[in-house]
Amino acid sequence: MSDTSLPPALLTALSDLLGPSGLLTDAGDTEAFCTDWRMLYHGRCAAVLRPASTEDCAKAVALCAEHGVPMVPQGGNTSMVGGATPDNSGKAVVISTNRMTRIHTIDHADLTMTVEAGVTLKAAQDAAAAEGLMLPLSISSEGSAEIGGILATNAGGNNTVRYGNARELALGLEAVLPDGQVLNLMRRLRKDNTGYALRQLLIGSEGTLGLITTAIIQLQPAPRSRETALCALADPQAVLNLFAAFRKQDPAAIQAFEYMSGTSMALVNNLIEGASLPLETPAPAYALVELGSPRADDSLRTLMEDVLGQALEDGLVTDAVLAESEGQRQALWMIREEHAEAQKRAGASVKNDVSVPLSAIPEFITKATAACEALIPGIRVAPFGHIGDGNIHFNLVQPEGMDPKAFLAQDHAMMDTVAGIVRTLDGSFSAEHGVGQLKTYMMPSWRGGAELDAMRKIKAALDPKNLMNPGKIFPES
Ligand code: MLT
Ligand code: ZN
Repeated sequence: MSDTSLPPALLTALSDLLGPSGLLTDAGDTEAFCTDWRMLYHGRCAAVLRPASTEDCAKAVALCAEHGVPMVPQGGNTSMVGGATPDNSGKAVVISTNRMTRIHTIDHADLTMTVEAGVTLKAAQDAAAAEGLMLPLSISSEGSAEIGGILATNAGGNNTVRYGNARELALGLEAVLPDGQVLNLMRRLRKDNTGYALRQLLIGSEGTLGLITTAIIQLQPAPRSRETALCALADPQAVLNLFAAFRKQDPAAIQAFEYMSGTSMALVNNLIEGASLPLETPAPAYALVELGSPRADDSLRTLMEDVLGQALEDGLVTDAVLAESEGQRQALWMIREEHAEAQKRAGASVKNDVSVPLSAIPEFITKATAACEALIPGIRVAPFGHIGDGNIHFNLVQPEGMDPKAFLAQDHAMMDTVAGIVRTLDGSFSAEHGVGQLKTYMMPSWRGGAELDAMRKIKAALDPKNLMNPGKIFPES
């Protein structure tokens, strides 16, 4: 039984093009594509299209454009801001990339991987590792997040501090534009100043300008030595001081530098089976430090021990544990990577993915904590994140026992309170998660005037009928 509202002529054309596994119309089959990972958004769609190649994707997009059907590109559906969920009208189709899963080439001379949009980040990382190389992007959702979505949102994550965001890693790109044309930017060049950087325009456009189908990703030699430590500290200022101490010795060795508050750590400890804090006593703040090098000598161990030894002696670090095996390293990373899941299990939460200059982080956390606690008594302020990039996930978990709906009804009040403090510190209300649909309402006050106007003009030029991921980034006008 088909549950679609698509015009019959379009349905027939799509069915001929994509075949039974490429076109889902039954509500039972499409439902999972209409709800986000956080279970905040529950939309509806007319169908899910699952093209298996760029060519089929381009033809499907052209058909939908001809019939004026809105399209919502979707990768692994791990957006934190509802960026890949259709609205409630049931008029849009979701275009899923999850059948475009080929890794075309890994080139050792160019240090690149050519990969289709639907390959998960984990599968791409594993393929690079199997060849003695590294894909230097790592995020908590890497088991399901897909390359296309990662580029569309310019994901950041744990290694940005050393290798940059997704946009720094993409040397080439292929995308289907809203009218079905294929934009081929698969050039693999480190230098190319021929006109506008369209590749960078597509990256971070959150699927509003086109659907990314293939990319060329810059790889790195795999690290042959790695040192990982979990440290307990008194507060975020101490975490920053520790970061500065490593940076002073060898900035290029810092592969990841993550912060976790005592509150967010306690949630992981209590709610995630198999996670246990390998330190004696709970602390107000933690740092997860990873150093990496393609050299196989023991210089990183010396660096780690020197910096931590001094920090312990100075009382900057109150306790620390070093991973002595790959298993222990993974156990430390598991504690960090389960933060989002633990907060989901703790009830309703409001995410504030913000960035401020490094020097402003302690002031931000102090002020925002006090403001949120005054706003909602009993609220659990559980910040953590990529402190080496100035990116804090200032997440707010509902008071125990509170009705989740009543908590979420105040989401704008909480987001505005946090954003107000971020603004006074010259920060951004979206560091790495994007605007999606959750934060569109903030755009006019943050990116108004000429900036939002230029963005709207670019959108109108490439997508005059507003068919590609409508309702995302831009506030309703
Ligand atoms: C992470 O770094 O784990 C995610 O970006 C965070 C989140 O849940 O806000
Ligand atoms: Zn993050």
